[in-house]
Amino acid sequence: MMEMDNKQAVLRLPAEKLYAHELEALRAADQDTKPAGWQLSPRSVLTFLTGGEVGGVTITPKYIGNKRLIEMAIATLLTDRALLLIGEPGTAKSWLSENLTAAIHGDSSKVVQGTAGTSEEHVRYSWNYALLLAQGPSDQALIRSPILRAMESGGIARFEEISRCASEVQDALISILSEKTIAIPELGREVSAQRGFSIIATANTRDRGVNEMSAALKRRFNIIVLPAPSSLETEIDIVRRRVGEISASYELRATQPDEEAIRKVVTIFRELRSGVTLDGKEKVKPPSGVISTAEAISLLTGSMALAGSFGTGQLTDEDIAAGLQGAIVKDDAKDQLVWKEYLDNVMKKRGATWRSLYSACSEMNG
Ligand SMILES: Nc1ncnc2c1ncn2[C@@H]1O[C@H](COP(=O)(O)OP(=O)(O)O)[C@@H](O)[C@H]1O
Ligand SMILES: [Mg+2]
Repeated sequence: MMEMDNKQAVLRLPAEKLYAHELEALRAADQDTKPAGWQLSPRSVLTFLTGGEVGGVTITPKYIGNKRLIEMAIATLLTDRALLLIGEPGTAKSWLSENLTAAIHGDSSKVVQGTAGTSEEHVRYSWNYALLLAQGPSDQALIRSPILRAMESGGIARFEEISRCASEVQDALISILSEKTIAIPELGREVSAQRGFSIIATANTRDRGVNEMSAALKRRFNIIVLPAPSSLETEIDIVRRRVGEISASYELRATQPDEEAIRKVVTIFRELRSGVTLDGKEKVKPPSGVISTAEAISLLTGSMALAGSFGTGQLTDEDIAAGLQGAIVKDDAKDQLVWKEYLDNVMKKRGATWRSLYSACSEMNG
């Protein structure tokens, strides 16, 4: 009962809580050998990520796409190499990292968020200075980084947006990944990683590129590139599933977008992303922002929130047009023109089935 209350109050559950019943079913049925420090066998981790059925429980696919990539990611974590997921924004790097960690280690919360301000202390350890001054260096005064905690427990630490960090921070990570220890000279000891320890890092190819990561650090990782969804149908599938899951967890009081609406949004996104219409006949100017699958998902859940709160609960083309406007026209005045050109040169010519969405979008774009 407490658990239920908790579930309802928390805005966003970590994967291990959200899919606790699936992980439990996989654990109960798991016959294969579990690697040291792992909660599940590699095969069960794969099932958790790509979907299936175990003991009468449906395992929803978390990652939709090339299964081989997931196998390679899991295999990497069986060795002493760390895993680096790279790709365009919104290609499920963070989502995959969280779900892999949840399946293997059961706790996806040990996360270092990489920014320009991330310091070596975030990677190793720091001190509670009041305690440090009062009693000198002690175990109680030690503040362990998520990475240090993962080493102690033989778990997985996640490092988000690693390429945004300064090079000193990246250097600190090199020694951790090669020695698998963190020295704490103030306490006269050294923490050695327990078996099962690893790091899953993510990096966007869009920001300060992965290219700027030092070669020495890149060598410590197996790099897996997550692609944008290969086909229209795959992307529609991803968007439909995730919109269903996310809107259910937010309890949005609106109908799910129908197949046609999703197909239209994904078509628009794929055309703006690739710079050409799906039939290859017409060039399209891409807008300044990122037009990712993740954006399509949040656009549609946002439209559902509009429909549920201010409409009849029936998702309309006006709700979707408002979402599209926000997703495509960022702060850039040029985007408004790019969107107008797309509306008039592509959408308008698509005839009756697109007419109503076209009108709603044109009106919205002013
Ligand atoms: N191939 C995919 N399979 C499943 N979900 C995907 C896929 N691509 C994108 N998504 C969804 O889009 C969102 C991706 O967001 P995120 O993981 O934060 O992207 P990134 O970290 O790559 O910028 C998640 O909600 C995820 O479910
Ligand atoms: Mg991310």
